[in-house]
Amino acid sequence: PIAYVNGDFVPLSEAKVSVLDRGFLFADGIYEVSAVLDGKLVDNDSHLARLERSVGEIKLPLPETIARIKEIQRELITRNGLKDGLVYIQVTRGADVGRDFAFPKGVKPTLMMFTSVKDIVNAASAKTGIGVITVPDIRWARRDIKSVALLAQVLAKQAAAEAGAGEAWMIEDGKVTEGGSSSAFILTKDDVLVTRENSSAILPGCTRKAVVKLAEERQLRVEERAFTIEEALKAKEAFITSASSFVQPVVKIDGKTVADGKPGPTAQRLREIYIDFAR
Ligand code: PDD
Repeated sequence: PIAYVNGDFVPLSEAKVSVLDRGFLFADGIYEVSAVLDGKLVDNDSHLARLERSVGEIKLPLPETIARIKEIQRELITRNGLKDGLVYIQVTRGADVGRDFAFPKGVKPTLMMFTSVKDIVNAASAKTGIGVITVPDIRWARRDIKSVALLAQVLAKQAAAEAGAGEAWMIEDGKVTEGGSSSAFILTKDDVLVTRENSSAILPGCTRKAVVKLAEERQLRVEERAFTIEEALKAKEAFITSASSFVQPVVKIDGKTVADGKPGPTAQRLREIYIDFAR
């Protein structure tokens, strides 16, 4: 695979940044992940708009324009012959000579991008559904920023993996914030789609936004509000959304089944609708 680092296209195994890079030392950086379907970027403008917002929130100037970043994404897809997968973008505040916490002066941000192969459409777990576990949300207070500081999510998703679950739902003040790397939805007994409202408590998911719009266009009722695990366990359906999974049914929470423990028709339908939108 070919990666991009600071102006150069290089083999991924040879791609390098300094050990003094502030992404490495301080997690002083931002990332984005866009899906690729049949060689085409999915909902990419939404991801790049969020990238611009995230870097703005931490006062990190992008070293390239959004138009140039788009070109690099496309060039990576072409050079790698990528059909289905992901494009990863990371921008950090660069490598300074020392380890000053405050922003260094005259340091160029590091821009790094690579692709990976993933057949999201045909993922086996989309047919079976996944289990989730619950963990306390121990993250910082600005989860609306897509920062590379992901230790809380690493630990949450490791706990899920050890429990044989596909995702961890993070809980704060008795309510679900979101998944370790996904947005959380339920469908209530009254056929209302519920997902937490955007705020600094969650990342504003691009897939979440598209799914809410697509659902509303099909006359599904959507309520943007927080929900509890008790409510999720009484729901008809549950699912997660993300660039790397699109829409994935959730059939178990902490070992207890959601409804009959099978992927629900609404989640499956929304997955198909999203895939049509993505193509
Ligand atoms: N994760 N919430 C969190 C905490 C996330 O990390 C993500 C995405 C989402 C879903 O956002 P979107 O629909 O825009 O992908 C929600 C990416 C895929 C990742 O970390 O790999």
